[in-house]
Amino acid sequence: MPAAVFPYNHDTIFDMQHIHPLIIGNWKMNPVTVSEAKAIITSLKTATKKYPTATIVVAPPALFLLEVKKLLGSSTIALGAQTMHESPVGAETGELAAAMLTGAGVSYVILGHSERRALGETDEHVNRKVTSALKAKMTPIICVGERDRDNAGNFYALIETQITVALLTVPAARLKNVVIAYEPIWAIGTGKTASVEDVQEMQLFIKKIITKLFSRAGANTVRVVYGGSVDVQNAATLYTAGGVAGFLVGGASLKPAEFTKIIAATI
Ligand code: PGA
Repeated sequence: MPAAVFPYNHDTIFDMQHIHPLIIGNWKMNPVTVSEAKAIITSLKTATKKYPTATIVVAPPALFLLEVKKLLGSSTIALGAQTMHESPVGAETGELAAAMLTGAGVSYVILGHSERRALGETDEHVNRKVTSALKAKMTPIICVGERDRDNAGNFYALIETQITVALLTVPAARLKNVVIAYEPIWAIGTGKTASVEDVQEMQLFIKKIITKLFSRAGANTVRVVYGGSVDVQNAATLYTAGGVAGFLVGGASLKPAEFTKIIAATI
């Protein structure tokens, strides 16, 4: 079997964005029961078999990670976490460390999601978490995005700061293991998707920032995905015309048939 179907091999070089699209399902605080979580995974496992070239990640609530991992078995669907703590171990009530997640079979971790930033997570926290995730051989999915779009374009500076600080301690050689998710806050869970032009422009802007910080070659290995009300209707256009490497999907990722159609839109 070609190595490409094991996309969560941390050492794979990801420079073929459109050959191996990356689709991440962020379940957030859903569903409420483990039996519902199992039902989603069971359907997804069957439905996604048709798309072996897609890198599919599911990020269930932390409490369900072990059950989901067991159920995934030999499936190529990878397991993601929705957040983690920056410290490797210690007195951090309610938190989870990177090694606990990798021990549970997690290979991707969403960091700096706007719903975590709203609880006080700063760019500096995100940077330390990215460092810890990479050290633990997990792929960080760094979420960036503006709350509003002002006519003066100040949101560009905010995105630049979020990325610059998040990548501050990342060695150039590890860029290929980094995913950036552009998630404008105004588009999350609102049904208001960014336009194809917005998405295309922002993914180019993100690549430009990384080129400035590292190199063009480095920027080409970072996968930039889009998130914010991605659904069956808009996925194909956003993918083909938006120039992104894939999607971070919230609401629609809880519906296996819809999530599968979003994956199919990237193939
Ligand atoms: P949404 O969420 O797809 O429900 O808008 C995306 C996200 O928050 O990652």
